[in-house]
Amino acid sequence: EYKFIYQKPLPIPPALQPATNSLMNRKVKNPINGKDIWYYELEIKSFTQQVYPNLGPAQLVGYDGISPGPSIVVPRGTESIVRFINNAAKPNSVHLHGSPSRAPFDGWAEDTTLPGQFKDYYYPNDQSARFLWYHDHAVAITAENAYFGQAGAYLITDAAEDVLNLPKGYGVYDIPLVLASKQYNNDGSLFSTAGETDSLWGDVIHVNGQPWPFFNVEPRKYRLRFLNAAVSRSFALYFAQSTSTGTKLPFKVIASDAGLLSRPVQTSVLYASMAERWEVVFDFSQFKGKSIDLRNLEDVGDFGADDDYLNTNKVMRFVVSSKSPAQPDTSVVPSALRQVPFPAHGNAINHHFRFHRSNGQWLINDIGFADAQNRVLANVPRGTVEIWELENSSGGWTHPIHVHLVDLKVLSRTGKRGVMPYEAEGLKDVVWLAKGETVRVEAHYQPWAGLYMFHCHNLIHEDHDMMAAFNVTILDG
Ligand code: C2O
Ligand code: CU
Repeated sequence: EYKFIYQKPLPIPPALQPATNSLMNRKVKNPINGKDIWYYELEIKSFTQQVYPNLGPAQLVGYDGISPGPSIVVPRGTESIVRFINNAAKPNSVHLHGSPSRAPFDGWAEDTTLPGQFKDYYYPNDQSARFLWYHDHAVAITAENAYFGQAGAYLITDAAEDVLNLPKGYGVYDIPLVLASKQYNNDGSLFSTAGETDSLWGDVIHVNGQPWPFFNVEPRKYRLRFLNAAVSRSFALYFAQSTSTGTKLPFKVIASDAGLLSRPVQTSVLYASMAERWEVVFDFSQFKGKSIDLRNLEDVGDFGADDDYLNTNKVMRFVVSSKSPAQPDTSVVPSALRQVPFPAHGNAINHHFRFHRSNGQWLINDIGFADAQNRVLANVPRGTVEIWELENSSGGWTHPIHVHLVDLKVLSRTGKRGVMPYEAEGLKDVVWLAKGETVRVEAHYQPWAGLYMFHCHNLIHEDHDMMAAFNVTILDG
């Protein structure tokens, strides 16, 4: 049992500096527009983490030897190249989740970089401000690689968001919170996902790599950027005073996978399945000298099938200073955040995909990724808008479905949950199919042609083998 709940501080992943220094002979320019391309290097290597002070260390593998990896923060319109150097023992493939990367740089599962090799990934960064993340995607070992540490935040910023005067400053009032759920062996090492075919729920909740941390805050507004990077666990997050057993405090959801919502949505419970990003503004100004706990509802508030353990209802603690903020809090949450761009939709369903289990394998319309002959389940002409219907037909299991390349508009969801109010105000790249749900999503298949993956983001399911491909085709040549 982990005995240090709320006793260790929240780590904040450092922001990675680009190596544009010409002494390193790494200055790269786009030959067409003459603009500098920001060049980064990340080394995938093993490291140890002392999680249980009285036991042995856990052996992990992460980007630059930390997990989450360093955060990459780039302004919209600045292209980047990231050299991922594999100095680990296993193959890797890197996916920048949420980026419309060209197919050769999208982390195609079989496009692996072997130990001792590196690959330069090129990213356009032409999206509006949003919280992307980079993580491993190597075929059949994605769960293991991501869970042992290969995941990090990648933020695109832009001027339109800056002028809103939301709480600002990476690591100061704008805080990434990368959630994970893990399991440890008696010797303090990490229990492996290898060999699991159902799910790895985990009984130890981590935020930014630290089990159940605390974070000292000023009595003011904070922007909290949640990423659920767990292998299998979904969360139903809520805030409560540490002295209270129940009362859920209100907060504002301001952004989803694809950046700002059209307007802030007030809620008291936030559902976050795997790979989803939700950004909220929480106002601590009323709680001088108090503690606010971030908690998780049992059974994901009835919509999950996750196994719960002694402390999986706890996530982290915010300790609010009794002193007034150093600077007065002038940040605001405007009532309109942005015009979310989206083409008008029709009603025709272009594709229906069933996520199910058969003979111990997780499949999509009876196909798994290993079936290379049949795994391209859709051909989509570039530039078209399509509606896909995603059906969870696997009983009590749940599946967050990620479609590469595109932003999704959630049109409808069957079951008692419906489309969540904060889902309706923005765009997504992963959508949660909880128990028995069928969800319709619409996307504009652009800007590139090519072969892209879609899959369940329960990484155990993805590896076994709930992943397929769609081909964005060129009509006009
Ligand atoms: Cu976040 Cu295809 O993955
Ligand atoms: Cu699944």
